[in-house]
Amino acid sequence: DGFTYIPKADSFVVKADTDYIYMTSNNTIHGTEWHDFPSFDVPLFCDMSSDFLSRPVDVKNFDFIYAGVQKNVGPAGVVVAIIKDDLLKKVCRDLPLMLQYKTYVDHDSTYNTPPVFNIYFVNKVAHWLDDNGGLTAMLERNKRKAAIVYDVIDSSDGFYRGHARRDSRSLMNVTFNLATPELEAQFVAEAAEHDLIGVKGHRSIGGCRASIYNAVTEEGCQALADFMKAFQKKH
Ligand SMILES: Cc1ncc(COP(=O)(O)O)c(C=O)c1O
Repeated sequence: DGFTYIPKADSFVVKADTDYIYMTSNNTIHGTEWHDFPSFDVPLFCDMSSDFLSRPVDVKNFDFIYAGVQKNVGPAGVVVAIIKDDLLKKVCRDLPLMLQYKTYVDHDSTYNTPPVFNIYFVNKVAHWLDDNGGLTAMLERNKRKAAIVYDVIDSSDGFYRGHARRDSRSLMNVTFNLATPELEAQFVAEAAEHDLIGVKGHRSIGGCRASIYNAVTEEGCQALADFMKAFQKKH
């Protein structure tokens, strides 16, 4: 249905010969996010690149988590990987050393020269998260931020049309459409004049998208909401 919702966990049929299940916690393009994670009898792998450290997650429910840090945690070039010990032992393919997680575990992530400055930056952000109440506080803050923008969509009488079903809405990427592609282009252009940059949707689906990762403030979300209301009034 146009990737507008997150399916219910019990709607999956897991085939008998399944080795693992691979999921992505937040869909940056369509603006949907898993709010309750499913669990299965087979190992669960998750790409958390776009919502890692935006909320608490019980890591023990996953066998493998990886996340590029570039959205919520630091500059591009670092990936956090969390893998169960017994899974590491199961790798039986003849992989090049650099492509094996075991290599990084065995060498304390310094088998090669790591991007030290980027990792230092991740450390700074981790301290910032700690100093600001940790992930529980970050989730509350991200909920408040998203609500500011979704509320404008929901009270716009259809001027703004949210892409994701309400129960599946992402706290990270608010996706919506306006009546026509022309009006959307005008929205993006006028937003930029108000220093609201990058509200154009992903090139694969068009429309509009506000990405409101950890670094975006509540004031930033309010500025977008105010602009959206003014734009609706004007048009
Ligand atoms: C969930 C997810 N996985 C992977 C990627 C890709 O990351 P990279 O640009 O490092 O390839 C992104 C970024 O858009 C993402 O949101």
